[in-house]
Amino acid sequence: MMFDKSAQSGRECPAPLRDLHVAVIMDGNGRWAQNRGWPRLVGHRKGAEQVRKLVEVCPELGIRYLTLYAFSTENWKRSTEEVLGLMSLFARYIRREAGRMKREGVRLRFIGDRSRLDDDLQALIQWIETETAGNDRVHLSVALNYGGRDEIARASRAMARDVAAGKLDADEINDNVLSRYLDTRDLPDPDLVVRTSGEFRVSNFLLWQAAYAEYVFTPTLWPDFSPKTMENILKDFSLRERRFGGVKV
Ligand code: IPE
Ligand code: IPE
Ligand code: MG
Repeated sequence: MMFDKSAQSGRECPAPLRDLHVAVIMDGNGRWAQNRGWPRLVGHRKGAEQVRKLVEVCPELGIRYLTLYAFSTENWKRSTEEVLGLMSLFARYIRREAGRMKREGVRLRFIGDRSRLDDDLQALIQWIETETAGNDRVHLSVALNYGGRDEIARASRAMARDVAAGKLDADEINDNVLSRYLDTRDLPDPDLVVRTSGEFRVSNFLLWQAAYAEYVFTPTLWPDFSPKTMENILKDFSLRERRFGGVKV
């Protein structure tokens, strides 16, 4: 049972958390495998299993939006073997999980620059987004070839094109307008960003959207991250007081 931060004092029974947007930097797959003397890809495969388990429990944890960092714009620096292995894992995940996502009301979206992905993967992404477009129980977004800076640069180019075409007035550009040009235009801002594996950095994830998110850093490596780990993190989150620049009332 999760608890609502607004109901910490007094005797009333705390209300459960609802409609949260949780974003996760799923880190530590490589180390998890290497600690066991296994190839890094084994860690990525185990990581994908943990994703499936987490998506399943989202409704009971009060998570309506789950956004997962799967591949950054910087991850192309890795070996060809690892990059190709990851790309085939993403394709396999989509094919294997399509039926379950449709049955369980999961809407799957991808954020990031998909134009650099190979054509087959782009087609698969397009297909699953359409297949699950009517679902509303859990909104799963996978950040693939995603970088916060790249996203803002792409949004800026799109705005500049619209200004040149007379569709947008440059003087009207503000943070709401810019938000509508981002890949996350259909998603609320994240309430909570979790990073696993004991690293304390953001690594180019949701730079704009996480302006007022709470952060939790856990030493757990992603392949060891279970629904119970998320439940404990949400307990911590529920005790925090968010002020959004205001003062406590
Ligand atoms: C996160 O795990 C998954 C991706 C970045 C694709 P890593 O592969 O970064 O694992 P570590 O950080 O090397 O242990
Ligand atoms: C961040 O992890 C990207 C993903 C989890 C997909 P990295 O392992 O790529 O980040 P750094 O290199 O430790 O900053
Ligand atoms: Mg890493």
